[in-house]
Amino acid sequence: MTGTERKACVIGWPVAHSLSPRLHNYWLKKYRIPGSYEAWEIKPENLAKAMNELRGKHFSGCNLTLPHKELVLSLLDSMDDTADSIGAANTIIIKPDGLLHGINTDAYGFIENIRSHASIIHKQKAVVLGAGGAARAIVKALMQEGFRNITLSNRTEKKSIALARHFAGPCISEPWQRREYSLENADLLVNTTSLGMKGNEPLSIDLSRLPIHAIVCDIVYSPLETDLLNAARARGNPAVDGLGMLIYQAVPAFEAWFGVRPEVTKETREALL
Ligand code: ATR
Repeated sequence: MTGTERKACVIGWPVAHSLSPRLHNYWLKKYRIPGSYEAWEIKPENLAKAMNELRGKHFSGCNLTLPHKELVLSLLDSMDDTADSIGAANTIIIKPDGLLHGINTDAYGFIENIRSHASIIHKQKAVVLGAGGAARAIVKALMQEGFRNITLSNRTEKKSIALARHFAGPCISEPWQRREYSLENADLLVNTTSLGMKGNEPLSIDLSRLPIHAIVCDIVYSPLETDLLNAARARGNPAVDGLGMLIYQAVPAFEAWFGVRPEVTKETREALL
């Protein structure tokens, strides 16, 4: 590595599925930045060692994916308010003095993806399916956007109740069995569960109570066109796939590590397909 080269990586277990190396290396090439972005497969018990190794090798930082986003918090020297309130960091910036600063760009990625598809977002009511790590970031984004009612439904109800309590304010939990009734008057429906992902069962939901203006977003991106998005498009709802969230969450990270704010274009998506 020369003095001008910058390096970053994604740390996961497993990590082979991650599209982040392809995305960041595409931008590095596009902006002619000397540097590289790698994939590190690291077991949870070795995360602290890996962070030290990054410091030693003068990395600018890293992304974290499953199962490290929550675990990394205890290793950080500082974090931003969003990471603190979500309880997870997806991006680490290694400062010149070696201190680790954690941020969470998933909330930003989610909302920018929606904005890139819809010029007007009505903000009375959002329905979020699921209550895992992705749901936490999305609920945070919806609160930052000022949604007045955020209804959470999860198969394991105690988790959606806990999430609604954690964020409080506009958040309420509704039983999973009532998810179709929750769609009444909704402006936005988001699937954050793993249902619909390649190898999993599809999400079973009848959209007939959902207003036609409501945006339907699936954070699943493999496949890109889920049954949920197909059903939404077929009845005239705007549909937003999950690839954009992955791309937009990477924008602030790339800028922090490599010094250029990358533009998201049609070609960016194409580079990942
Ligand atoms: P992530 O961090 O990506 O959100 P996660 O924390 O494993 O992943 O969350 C997966 C979500 O998909 C959870 O809300 C999970 O519901 P449970 O909390 O009940 O496990 C949901 N999910 C997974 N399989 C499901 C299924 N067959 N039916 C309904 N929900 C399911």
